[in-house]
Amino acid sequence: MSAKPQVYTSKYLSGTYEPVFEEVVCEDLEVIGQIPNDLAGHFLRIGPNPYFVPDMERYHIFDGDGMIHGVQISDGRATYRNKFIDSSGLREEREKGDWIFPGLNLYGDFIARGEMPRSKNTGNTAMVVHQGKLFGLMEGGTPYALSLPTLETVGEHDFDGTLTHNFTAHPKVDAKTGEMMTFGYSPFPPYLTYSVVDPKGQAVHTREITIPKGIMMHDCAITEHYTIFPDLPLVFDFEKLTEGKSMIGWDPDNGSRIGVVPRFGSDESIIWFEIEESFLFHVSNAWEEGDEIVLQACRSDRGAIETTEGLDVKDQLGRLHQWRLNLKTRAVTSELLVADHHCDFPRLADELTGYPNRYIYAARFRVEEMATFDAEIKYDNQSGSVQIHEYGPNKEGGEAVFAPRVDAKSEDDGYVICFVNDAADRSCECYIIDAQNFEAPPVAKIKIPTRVPHGFHAAWVPA
Ligand SMILES: [Fe+2]
Repeated sequence: MSAKPQVYTSKYLSGTYEPVFEEVVCEDLEVIGQIPNDLAGHFLRIGPNPYFVPDMERYHIFDGDGMIHGVQISDGRATYRNKFIDSSGLREEREKGDWIFPGLNLYGDFIARGEMPRSKNTGNTAMVVHQGKLFGLMEGGTPYALSLPTLETVGEHDFDGTLTHNFTAHPKVDAKTGEMMTFGYSPFPPYLTYSVVDPKGQAVHTREITIPKGIMMHDCAITEHYTIFPDLPLVFDFEKLTEGKSMIGWDPDNGSRIGVVPRFGSDESIIWFEIEESFLFHVSNAWEEGDEIVLQACRSDRGAIETTEGLDVKDQLGRLHQWRLNLKTRAVTSELLVADHHCDFPRLADELTGYPNRYIYAARFRVEEMATFDAEIKYDNQSGSVQIHEYGPNKEGGEAVFAPRVDAKSEDDGYVICFVNDAADRSCECYIIDAQNFEAPPVAKIKIPTRVPHGFHAAWVPA
């Protein structure tokens, strides 16, 4: 399988971002070090990998077809696979032999001439496992059920017809109850719709939540009893679209607030907390402490879906932050947790989602015009200490996951796993880092025999 030869001019299509077209299976991979015998499962990473690109200079990184890369680990050995998300949109384009869906930066051209552009459910953003089922997600569409170990697309999954709205790329699963909390946002009313999917895989509670404007809400949080929505000023503005600008822009007039709604609550029971002008792409976690909700996330002063000219890049890069929201007094406290490092893609031991966690793992930004990730940090909520695993010269990481050791005895008894690209030769290795010996060299670097372009989110699915 291969697309026609293309000349890539967007920065998000060249270098370590250049898409690949081969779908491969490579067994018994070469390893520097040793894959631990007490690690068994699938490290997965999903991202944009465009098959056809309408406009090489105006490509947006959110546009690319989804591709999933997987490293299956068992008995100290590793197998690599990659697959496109087999979306109906990609199939349609392959049949035509050319692009059909214009992508974010070309929407304005269509609207200016009175045409409605079609959008593609690429499934390129993140994954979730719910009740043993793996899903590939993009916030503008319906989840794709995926199969392991082959990574094949089973098809779009609407939870037995119970899902009635777009599905975020970042639903939250409560490991204790088996419930999955999710939402969809829209540029048009209703701007926000919330659902709880029960352990049987049906959306059993769907409610519209009122917010003032259509915004890009990328993430949410849960606690044992509540679901938390950040209503922040990354706002849809269609007038800007017709002026050739991005339709999603920063509008401080929207205000910044965090909504806390009981898990099975609705518009009537939501409590809104005003916070300082803020943006967050990704929540780390939230939990309850007495009357308070503790919310930890990577907070930035501004939000944008592209680096904004004239602004300090750092204004748009997150740092680990904590808010405390008092449900009784309605008081809010806001605290920067880690001042010295900009980071995103915060992760923790998955089963603690919604409950107190001690450790956060996050990808550290190398702060340049075009940010890359040059290290992984481990933050300790108890001591406030930060440990850093530096990837080294020319190395570029991405989202890492925490994979518990088989029969793990404590919260950080396991491994931190990530793809790391070498910007010089574009080779890729899968690093396995001992979470309890975090700053030491990886216990294993699995050599991936093909390129793995940078992507978005990762997942660990235990065997
Ligand atoms: Fe995300």
